[in-house]
Amino acid sequence: MKNQSNNSKILSNLLYFKLLPVLAMSGLLDLKPITAAREINAAVVNVSGRQRMLSQRTALFALRLVCTQDVVEQEKLRQELLAAINLMEKSHNGLINGDAEMKLPGNPSPTVEAMYFDLPLNLDKQVRNYITQARLLGEIDKSELTQDNFHLQYILNASATDLIKALDAVVSQYQQESDRQQLAIDLHLAELYQQSCEATEKAQAQSQKLEQALTDLRSYQTQLVQTEKMSSLGQLVAGVAHEINNPVNFIYGNLSHASEYVQNLLELLQLYQESNSKPSHKIQEKIEDIELDFLIEDMPKLLSSMKIGAERICQIVLSLKNFSRIDQSQMQVVNIHEGIDSTLLILQHRLKVRNGLSEIQVVKEYGDLPLVECYAGEINQVFMNLISNAIDAIEEVTDRPGQITICTELLPSDEIVVRIADNADGINRKIKARLFDPFFTTKPVGKGTGLGLSISYQIVAEKHHGKITCNSQPGQGTEFLIQLPVQQTRKSTAQLSTAFAAS
Ligand SMILES: Nc1ncnc2c1ncn2[C@@H]1O[C@H](COP(=O)(O)OP(=O)(O)OP(=O)(O)O)[C@@H](O)[C@H]1O
Ligand SMILES: [Mg+2]
Repeated sequence: MKNQSNNSKILSNLLYFKLLPVLAMSGLLDLKPITAAREINAAVVNVSGRQRMLSQRTALFALRLVCTQDVVEQEKLRQELLAAINLMEKSHNGLINGDAEMKLPGNPSPTVEAMYFDLPLNLDKQVRNYITQARLLGEIDKSELTQDNFHLQYILNASATDLIKALDAVVSQYQQESDRQQLAIDLHLAELYQQSCEATEKAQAQSQKLEQALTDLRSYQTQLVQTEKMSSLGQLVAGVAHEINNPVNFIYGNLSHASEYVQNLLELLQLYQESNSKPSHKIQEKIEDIELDFLIEDMPKLLSSMKIGAERICQIVLSLKNFSRIDQSQMQVVNIHEGIDSTLLILQHRLKVRNGLSEIQVVKEYGDLPLVECYAGEINQVFMNLISNAIDAIEEVTDRPGQITICTELLPSDEIVVRIADNADGINRKIKARLFDPFFTTKPVGKGTGLGLSISYQIVAEKHHGKITCNSQPGQGTEFLIQLPVQQTRKSTAQLSTAFAAS
């Protein structure tokens, strides 16, 4: 029982001191009425206990009053007796009728009221009789102050038996009622606390959902913008490639015929010259005019260089087609070096000398790579983003020639690595931490959107189960490393088996 009441006190303290302020702050609870109820309870229990104490004090003063012979002492004890009895009367009235100063509401419960006004206790009557007897004793003549005085006997008897028992019963009744009220308050608080927890949980879940939706939306928007950008570029490149393709094939296809025809004509000319050793003056003039010997010597060279040029255009067209790969929504097995080369071709205009910027040298250290299974167009986007960033960084440097080094390598883990490094100023730690955040850019408005690396991360890490990392020291350039599994399907089977082994 004692433990239970201790626990209830601990719970009540916890609720009162720890939870009440929280609940009040959350707007769920009006603290004022609860605090007032607690104060009233405490005051009622306190005053009823005081009644008990005052009755005992009065008895003590009364006894001492009849025992002392000292007149001064007697007078002092009379005053104290009357003061105690006045206080007792005040408290008694306060408990029954109320007293704002003592925080007594004056509305005793039916049980307490019965104890005061009904039999068997009839405490009101007992208290008033006691007060009357004590006052009479306090005011009687000195000669009547004997130990067998009626008033004294009444006081001693009541304070030791009936009155004290009745006061004890009322104190305990007040205490019980206060405990019950407190328990009700505690339960109410616990309920409110639970409600507040549930409300907080709900709010948290909702805010998490909202946050997630916002993140998804941003990421979707990012992808959309970048996909749109790349697909426009891809379409443009594919369109140009397609348009050039036909006329170039036309030229290239006819060049061999043209060579053959020219060769035939030259042979015929030679035959004419042999059969007619003395050409007319007019012909001779023309031969000198057109520098026939030089023409005969130069013509095959000219045709062969035209052929080389046409072949180069064909290669470029092929590269452009390779870069765009817009029609490929399926994974393909491709040559990664071709992807890098075609990207470099697209960016050629930024690598060459141009208005005030010197040429950027590209060093390729290609390893022996197998064909790699990937979304080729998207992997080319990654190369495009990384090489563009390297060029942007190099353009900021003025005191040394720019260089981009691209290395590739096959790892024993059946993954390929592509390293794209520049010799620009590098990236400081603060910026490095945010590199892959969508919309993070240090470039001026209109130049950078801050999407290049975040999209590259999505393509490499999420779509291809690869890794993209950055090594950079301020002042020492930057290297981006892309790691891709050679085969996506095998990789996922391997992942599955690892997961299986781990479980
Ligand atoms: N090679 C690099 N050297 C120095 N800083 C770099 C390099 N690559 C990226 N950064 C830094 O990372 C930032 C983010 O790059 P990201 O490619 O995501 O966006 P961006 O190039 O600014 O804009 P966008 O690519 O969308 O046009 C850049 O603004 C730049 O500060
Ligand atoms: Mg960029």
